[in-house]
Amino acid sequence: MTQAFDDRLARELEQMREEGEYQEARHIQGRQSAVVELEEYGEVVNLCSNNYLGLCDEPEVMEGVKRGTERYGAGTSSVRFICGTFEIHRELEEKLADFMGTEAAVTYTSCWNANEGLFAPLLDEEDVIISDELNHASIIDGIRLASADLEIYGHMDMESLEETLRETQDYRTRFVITDGVFSMEGEIAPLPEMRELCDEYDAVLAIDDSHATGVLGETGRGTPEFHDMHGEVDVITSTLGKALGGMAGGYVAGSREVVDYLTQESRTQLFTNAMPPHSCAGALAAVEHLEENPGLLEKLHDNTRYFRRELEALGYDPIEGETPIVPVIVGETPDAIELSSRLLDHGAFVIGFGYPVVPKGTARIRCQISAAHEREHLDRTLDALETIGTDMGII
Ligand SMILES: Cc1ncc(COP(=O)(O)O)c(C=O)c1O
Repeated sequence: MTQAFDDRLARELEQMREEGEYQEARHIQGRQSAVVELEEYGEVVNLCSNNYLGLCDEPEVMEGVKRGTERYGAGTSSVRFICGTFEIHRELEEKLADFMGTEAAVTYTSCWNANEGLFAPLLDEEDVIISDELNHASIIDGIRLASADLEIYGHMDMESLEETLRETQDYRTRFVITDGVFSMEGEIAPLPEMRELCDEYDAVLAIDDSHATGVLGETGRGTPEFHDMHGEVDVITSTLGKALGGMAGGYVAGSREVVDYLTQESRTQLFTNAMPPHSCAGALAAVEHLEENPGLLEKLHDNTRYFRRELEALGYDPIEGETPIVPVIVGETPDAIELSSRLLDHGAFVIGFGYPVVPKGTARIRCQISAAHEREHLDRTLDALETIGTDMGII
């Protein structure tokens, strides 16, 4: 045992506490829903989950999980290529490919794993990855594992992207990757312009659509559908852990060749267990439920418009946008943490984010709206935001 090691960690943790940057975990004592029972706080309105469609406790989705458990048991106890591939994987992957408008799809245990396993097998020293500067951490870490070169372009800056594409013409493959919806900003990537540039410079266009799948577009197919470009993005990674039931799971959708290659070579495919079959069955039920209940999307976007409008009427200045991610920048990390903690005391569960999750000086609270919210939940949150925001001098 090296006590010095633990002592150093303890000092650094203490420093995080002193600087107001230490995040306390809050324990939910029931289901993920519009309102949750939070240990020590009781019933609070939940505006910090990615449960955009309210499917985490949707009976049809839970039934799917139960059916999956009954038929396939608790887990696979194997990676896919040994004996961890079940018929439900094929069924879900065919469904996801159809939903995404691609030829094929392959599941992973999470979108983090999908992104981590995406780049290294497909790209090497002859290739370059061109990445938005605010891409999700899982994209950044996935890129670190690849031997391909990396170029970073300015956030959603099409001039910067074009300049990078112009300067990288000697590479064999140029692989452009962006979040479809940026999780901390709620901004939507400009895919039509990106597609045009990728076509002009013969580059592959890839997106991580985790915050858009089941959220954007007329039928919830994500950012491409939002831009009327369904089926026009080369590679899509996404999660089954947010709008589509909130279970564990992620996937890559693309051409047959991309999916086949990943199945053969992706290390987070080869060296970790397959997605649990009950989660596959639940995710399948979630996609089917969305297809049968398009009203959920209408309610989600109605709620979002209402919340944004009322928030602005109170004097807040949220980052503009059309997604159910509604961030309000308040400055430094301790301010965001204080606002979030005082909101919780007033029955509104909204998380504050600071550095290193977001750049220094742009700490924020992020309100996430769901189709599960009723007006009464949103109004209760807005009342708390009015009281605390006035008291802290934010509005
Ligand atoms: C853009 C993006 N990609 C990937 C992930 C990871 O998804 P998962 O929870 O399936 O690993 C997240 C989750 O926060 C995300 O926001």
